[in-house]
Amino acid sequence: MNSNDIRDIFYTFFKNKGHYKVMSAPLVPAKDPTILFTNAGMNQFKDIFIGNESRDYKRAVSIQKCMRVSGKHNDFDEVGRTEYHHTFFEMLGNFSFGDYFKEKAIEYAWELMTDKFGFSPEDLRVSVFNEDDESYKIWEDKIGIPSKRISRLGEKDNFWQMGNTGPCGPCSEIHYDRGAEFGPDEFSGDNKRFVEVWNLVFMQYYKEESGKMNPLPSPSIDTGMGMERLTTLLSGKSSNYDTDLFRPIIEFTAKLADVNPDDKDIKIGLNVIADHVRALSFLISDGVLPSNDGRGYVLRRLLRRASKHGRSIGFKESFLYKVTPVVIEIMENTYPELGLNRKFISEVIKSEEERFERTLLSGLKRFEDIIHNTIDKGEKVLSGKDVFKLSDTYGFPVDFSIDLANEKNMKVDLEGFRAELADQQKKSRSGLAVRGVSNLPEDMDKLNSIFTGYNSLEEESSIKEIFKANSITDSISEGEEGVLIIEKTPFYGESGGQTGDTGSGRSENSLFSITDTRKNSTGGLLHYVKILKGNLTNSDIVRVKVDMSKRENIAAHHTSTHLLHAALREILGPHIKQSGSYVGPDKLRFDFTHFKSVSKDQLNGIETLINRKIRENLNVKTIETTYEDALNSGAIAIFDEKYSDKVRMLSIGEFSCELCGGTHLQQTGEIGFFKITSESSISSGIRRIEAVAGSAGYKYLETLFSRIEKIESKFNQKGERLFDFLSELDEKNRKLEKKISKQGSQEKTDFSELKSSKMEIRGLPVIIHHFEETSKKMLSTAADDIKRKYECVTIISSNEGGKSGIVISIPSNLTKKFNASTLIKQISTIVEGNGGGRPDFAQAGGNEINDPEGFMARIVELLENTK
Ligand code: ALA
Repeated sequence: MNSNDIRDIFYTFFKNKGHYKVMSAPLVPAKDPTILFTNAGMNQFKDIFIGNESRDYKRAVSIQKCMRVSGKHNDFDEVGRTEYHHTFFEMLGNFSFGDYFKEKAIEYAWELMTDKFGFSPEDLRVSVFNEDDESYKIWEDKIGIPSKRISRLGEKDNFWQMGNTGPCGPCSEIHYDRGAEFGPDEFSGDNKRFVEVWNLVFMQYYKEESGKMNPLPSPSIDTGMGMERLTTLLSGKSSNYDTDLFRPIIEFTAKLADVNPDDKDIKIGLNVIADHVRALSFLISDGVLPSNDGRGYVLRRLLRRASKHGRSIGFKESFLYKVTPVVIEIMENTYPELGLNRKFISEVIKSEEERFERTLLSGLKRFEDIIHNTIDKGEKVLSGKDVFKLSDTYGFPVDFSIDLANEKNMKVDLEGFRAELADQQKKSRSGLAVRGVSNLPEDMDKLNSIFTGYNSLEEESSIKEIFKANSITDSISEGEEGVLIIEKTPFYGESGGQTGDTGSGRSENSLFSITDTRKNSTGGLLHYVKILKGNLTNSDIVRVKVDMSKRENIAAHHTSTHLLHAALREILGPHIKQSGSYVGPDKLRFDFTHFKSVSKDQLNGIETLINRKIRENLNVKTIETTYEDALNSGAIAIFDEKYSDKVRMLSIGEFSCELCGGTHLQQTGEIGFFKITSESSISSGIRRIEAVAGSAGYKYLETLFSRIEKIESKFNQKGERLFDFLSELDEKNRKLEKKISKQGSQEKTDFSELKSSKMEIRGLPVIIHHFEETSKKMLSTAADDIKRKYECVTIISSNEGGKSGIVISIPSNLTKKFNASTLIKQISTIVEGNGGGRPDFAQAGGNEINDPEGFMARIVELLENTK
């Protein structure tokens, strides 16, 4: 049985038992700050377990992409040490939301394992939570497992929780007995003879931060079975790395490195590489990019570790990007997103790996500095802080530092290092705080409202609650501000990048403005109001009205954003993913994954295409459908957005189809005009386009034209002639500047008077000289010129504008004795300044040198005493 057979058997079995097939959610969890990555099949159903969400089905089956590299479930360090731990893996699971419970879950699991997968019952062991008599009885009486093959275990093994908070419950596990050669016949969670295959969790509680466990609305089932282990067992292999999921990756890598894939000494390296390249490919295709914090940092660490193992098996240059096609080939049938992002995945990996190589080179130099400083201080332990900085800021891995330090009979202060790391991780976790309205008082967060704003801009409604300074109040009066929640409202609450509506309202006794609209966690719409006149009381009926012209401008930008997204995918490729957006009345901003800058030609192409689609006056249509049907009909979803099962699918002619809850125009012609105003990079692999449309677009053009008119009138030139005129002016100016600077340098480049200052210190030729009033820029050119002319160690200084500049330039064959970057540090302290550079060239700045002779004498003294 291979992995594809296993997936088929699993799905078919549970579909026949009435389970709805749900696609894997992305590895980036949708709006769940409690976890960094999706770590179990149940994550995407968390809200259903808790009772905050309901679906049309009560039974589900999925194969979920998971990462266990942080938080409660973390196997990062195990990978490579064992044959069955992974960073990325697939979890097969069936779920019941308040439908069947322990008995059916156990029966199904047993039937699938023995009947369909063909495990012999004698080879299986089960464990239950020690207080769970019910499960014990089901296994013993209903399934007929002899009691000697059922074990009762404690919380560590048989109580599962998603994270430090969240749904949890006792569980029962099915284990495979590998036989006497792997250990004694004593069942325990740690005995390697038994391999955990399937975990059946009886979801019953919600664990709060305080540790308190509250019962869930209805007992539910969550199960999880590791795809890789199961494949190993069912294909008769002894290691996950020997299965069809890994072996082709390992063989390909070994061939590339020209090594034997079964060589014991390099096995671990090949395994780690295979594991990590899978993780990297899936992470990147789900929108994660290398960075220095959060998810991007995990990606970076995985890549560096894989690259490091690559070096140890003989790779001299970047190679990981060559391995990704094998991963894609194995997995793309099940996960088509990999194929769609093929080029992007290898580009990101290649560029990050090359960057890592450069980092290693420059890190080595910095590492040498740390070593020197430590020796200078007479110490033998490198500071944890320095090594952490080297690894965190410069990407120089800590184990490299440890190895290199060992070679020099030195050590790294690992405790200090870990303290710095812990501090950084704390910061990166807090960087994951939920966007938008958070920490609302519970009363405000739990109210919901009906949104009527897709079709109307005015509404009459009763009031649900009024809040003043976050507390419920009966009324608010003239001049006061508060938050108003009403039964039905046409006001759109800020979400999906679209800004919240503003407008006005009135009741029998009041007039108020609505300055913003936000959403709470249950979809309730919070109107931020200011009472302009009278008194607003919670028994009032209010009439509220959205600012129409602002809404129209927002709609023009929102519809344009969809056109832009589609145009980007058409012109740059299907790897384009939205990674953020702003849709306001004034402009739109669209952030997306793309590894290069977008060329001028491409930008023109995008703009032209969008304006053509505007002129085609395409229909903008929305329909309600299920998430799965929408994706099957080609709709684009945003990777970290959370969708309920019923979604709103918005299509623009045949050109664009996206899931979207926002407000739009009805025809693209209403946009009128679209103009890109800028394109830039906001972080590695993420680009940003800003644009204007509709009346904001017209305003933009107006401003531009009046600016041009101003320039035309200033230079008294029009149209094309203005450009020629300014170009000529620029040319003239350049020539003049060149002439002036030539004169300046001619004055300075005659260094013949320096010949006499040449001296010999510790056997080497040295010139030390102080110039009066020479700019710092001139100083560095002069230093290089002098060094070349006299082939000597050159140390020159000057004062400019009350400050001093010092430059050292050393012929590269002399840097063994005199190191410019070390010297500059010492010399700059004389002028209370600081500086740095390379061994052959360094510069510094400091206080004015009042006594040049004395200053130069001290330098001589310093050189003479240099070790
Ligand atoms: N959620 C359970 C696990 O991950 C099934 O083991």
